Amino acid sequence: MKKDSINFDKKIDRMETDCVKYDGLQSYFGVTDAKPLWVADMDFATPKFVQKALERKLKQQIYGYEIPSSNSFEAVINWQKRHNLELQKEDILFCSGVVPSLKIAVETFSEIGDEVVVFPPVYFPFFSVVKDSNRELIESYLVQKDGKYEIDFLDFESKITSKTKLLLLCSPHNPAGRVWSENELRKLDEICKKYNILVVSDEIHSDLVFTKFTSFATINPTSLILNAPSKTFNVAGFNTSYAFSLNNAIIEKFKINAKKHHITSLNTLSNTVIQSCYSDEGGVWLEELLVYLKKNIFFTEKFFKKYLPSVNVLKVEATYLVWLDFKETGLKHKQIKEKLLNNAKVALNDGITFGKNGKYCFRLNVALPKKELKIALKKIKIAFSK
Ligand SMILES: Cc1ncc(COP(=O)(O)O)c(C=O)c1O
Repeated sequence: MKKDSINFDKKIDRMETDCVKYDGLQSYFGVTDAKPLWVADMDFATPKFVQKALERKLKQQIYGYEIPSSNSFEAVINWQKRHNLELQKEDILFCSGVVPSLKIAVETFSEIGDEVVVFPPVYFPFFSVVKDSNRELIESYLVQKDGKYEIDFLDFESKITSKTKLLLLCSPHNPAGRVWSENELRKLDEICKKYNILVVSDEIHSDLVFTKFTSFATINPTSLILNAPSKTFNVAGFNTSYAFSLNNAIIEKFKINAKKHHITSLNTLSNTVIQSCYSDEGGVWLEELLVYLKKNIFFTEKFFKKYLPSVNVLKVEATYLVWLDFKETGLKHKQIKEKLLNNAKVALNDGITFGKNGKYCFRLNVALPKKELKIALKKIKIAFSK
């Protein structure tokens, strides 16, 4: 792949393409004139080699049902070697999405009335998949320490009862931007083993890391891992994901329930997406992407430090999502929200949707051309300098 075929600086007009990030502004924010810096997809083009593979596939003229091809299994097996995993075909199940898989995992590995633990602030479907399954949601809040969020292990253990069956782990963590260290994961595993709690680890952001990532499957093979190429390659709209476990009983039990709930059908483009993304070219593209994202994150950190030091920018170890804590501005949550949307005219995710400790916080998506990011940050600076 020619490196000059990658151009993250290029502005692409996404208006009127039916994408939720732009065309959903009216229904989610009640405005149409804000710069969308919310939903977790990127304003960068999906890699050229993926686009080309999709174009070739579309030429086949008939778009009928698909089965997961052996090349797709191979692609996942090869890709996961990056995370020190040696998977077999039987360990993997292709699914339509990570969120539907989280829901099926809750239903498969707990009973109605059982307790499921999450660590807020966390990606909001972690709440609904538990509540909508009539399980008890147990929230152990992450705590801010030295500019990043940490798990409160004492709080977590104190909340466990005989009904606690599952931990839904977001690893790396959205929106806290944490890559859990091997030590932290081992500590978690120790507690979970002690109380017989199964860990379901959502590792959808595991390629977008700036420090060493450890898959929970390498800590405890008796866990269920959910992943997808969606975030890494900006292909979320294809609803193509996969679950795996190194424990045969776990994946087999999950497979039965996932099939029962019809979340295992692939779409016509799924095989193409998996194979083209999880390729050698994909690896090269990812390296370039990480360099660009790192620069945008660094720029954002420096910008706030210089112009709005009362806004605490949590350390970003993973993802392109920056968690901004406005608590020290002394403003009320509602005032911050209004300033962002109505004065700065930028649409960020409201921190409260990620849990009650998300108050005063907003999630900023920096996966966009640097020039665009600079314009948006300047607008925030002006709005909060008044
Ligand atoms: C942690 C996490 N899990 C899952 C998803 C969505 O996964 P899917 O689109 O495959 O349901 C997202 C999207 O933002 C996410 O951040």
